Amino acid sequence: MKVAIIGAGTMGSGITQVAATAGCEVKLYDTKEEALDKSKTKLEKVLARLIEKGRIDLDEKNRIQSNITYVTSLKDLGDAHLTIEAIVENLDIKKQVFQELQSLQSQDAIIASNTSSLSIASIAASLESSERVIGIHFFNPAPLMPLVEIIPAVQTSDKVKNKVVEIITNWKKVGVLAKDTPGFIVNRVARPFYGEALRIYEEGGASFAEIDQAMKTLGGFRMGPFELMDFIGNDVNYTVTETVFKEFYYDPRYKPSFTQKRLSEAGYLGRKTEKGFYHYKNGKIDKNY
Ligand code: NAI
Repeated sequence: MKVAIIGAGTMGSGITQVAATAGCEVKLYDTKEEALDKSKTKLEKVLARLIEKGRIDLDEKNRIQSNITYVTSLKDLGDAHLTIEAIVENLDIKKQVFQELQSLQSQDAIIASNTSSLSIASIAASLESSERVIGIHFFNPAPLMPLVEIIPAVQTSDKVKNKVVEIITNWKKVGVLAKDTPGFIVNRVARPFYGEALRIYEEGGASFAEIDQAMKTLGGFRMGPFELMDFIGNDVNYTVTETVFKEFYYDPRYKPSFTQKRLSEAGYLGRKTEKGFYHYKNGKIDKNY
């Protein structure tokens, strides 16, 4: 199967690895050449580590890498059977990309968005053949997280929904069907986790490191809420909260945080910029900072 991934950032790179590992021919597209280079370098490191751990051999590494082509023109995605978009969480930009894409692909090609919170129905409405649009929401890091939310819009055909369920199962993921509501399942349930942690911190109830420590020690979480926000990206996390807040008619339960907004504005996006709530060195929290 031919798969196109749009956006070579955190999610697009991870989904590319998943699809290529499952044997698909993948074209990874980004407008920025440096994003593609970064993605390629990261995959090389990830696969080398998998060899070290004995999870794959050199042949498997070569097979995965040879399944991927890196492209900088949307026109190269014309022959894809399935396209998964993973670009910036902005409805207008996503719609624009989908509109350009529809004229390049056949009418039965499936078009999916990895959006965390935007309405699949409104993305679908921007296309003439909206029945082939669906949400396929992976979690970060996509190669490691088994869960994938599959979100049919009002317009999505059953044929497309069933085909996507089959593909996700073949990719060895656990697909869960969710309705097209703000934040779907996981991002809605997770909002209070981040929101209350931010409120405790903003009220001076505890430092963010102490909140993380408490949640990891007693709550059994692998990462505390602040480590997780830095991992996801403060820009992405803030935007998702803002969307869910607006979509639920400004329900105060989902109110976004000024602290996180300011960090995003400052470019303190988390691990990807080496600064967020924490500072990072070589991918790890810099305890000496
Ligand atoms: P990111 O910021 O790491 O990567 C976005 C990539 O898209 C960048 O490489 C950028 O150059 C590229 N891009 C931007 N506009 C483009 C365009 N018009 N055409 C082609 N490429 C373009 O973002 P990330 O974190 O990978 O998020 C992508 C999507 O996945 C968002 O919708 C986000 O809500 C969703 N998501 C993010 C998760 C996370 O933990 N970061 C988890 C699940 C979903």
